[in-house]
Amino acid sequence: MASIIDNNEALRLQIEQIAEVAGYLWEKGWAERNGGNISVNLTELVGDEVRRLPALMPEIKLGEPVEALAGNIFYVTGTGKRMRYVAKAPFSNGSVIRVNADGSAYEIIAEQPIMPTSELPSHLAMHNFLRARGVNNKVVVHTHPTDLVALSHCKPFLNSDYITRKLWAMIPECRVIVPRGVGIIPYELPGSMDLAKATIKQLDKHDVVLWEKHGILAVGEDIIECFDAIDTLSKSAQIYLYARQAGFEPEGMTDAQLDDLVPAFNLPK
Ligand code: 13P
Ligand code: ZN
Repeated sequence: MASIIDNNEALRLQIEQIAEVAGYLWEKGWAERNGGNISVNLTELVGDEVRRLPALMPEIKLGEPVEALAGNIFYVTGTGKRMRYVAKAPFSNGSVIRVNADGSAYEIIAEQPIMPTSELPSHLAMHNFLRARGVNNKVVVHTHPTDLVALSHCKPFLNSDYITRKLWAMIPECRVIVPRGVGIIPYELPGSMDLAKATIKQLDKHDVVLWEKHGILAVGEDIIECFDAIDTLSKSAQIYLYARQAGFEPEGMTDAQLDDLVPAFNLPK
């Protein structure tokens, strides 16, 4: 059967990377059942033959319009679909959608009529916000890392400065790989526009946000880098929790040690 990745090497590689990351989310133990979702902007990777594909089902209205995404094409994981199966068969566990000309609705255009994630309105709202700001954002990854969600059950960690400082101080790489730190979103109903709106407010300052008692979300240009940011934060959270389990509060790097990394790695201040 013909596929939109036939004769489009760049698109094939992008879909392969989505599948690769979906596999990591499962292997890491962050994606129980259908936990987590992914959306990737494919607009620059597809030609007119994909942009003009007929819809596979009637268009679906969005509660909030996403004008900056008019005509944009996305791969999105399906609602209720398991990451371990997205890894093996991305087009049987997700679909390709096109936002309409005024950003008020979307259509599924390939490869199968699989309903997008329940978080799609919030993913699109985030893509829209960043595009409207001129940021070349392509990816939203949401997943449920056990260690980071555990920290979100502890009041002091529900403060962006506090959790960022604690996690940065566990290993130098965390300061380098997640230089804009972690934003905190107080608990909201999964899939709700309130959750999306609260998240968007943090995206000026952070590329990664922690949803209290739920999961984490990363935005960026590259899906592998989004995964790396979450993975590094998870590593720091594990070091912190291992130390606590061994009965001691980890000393952490000093302010001076953290500050030295800024010029050494050319990090944003
Ligand atoms: P979906 O299966 O609809 O993507 O929901 C998973 C999830 O993690 C909701 O927050
Ligand atoms: Zn979730």
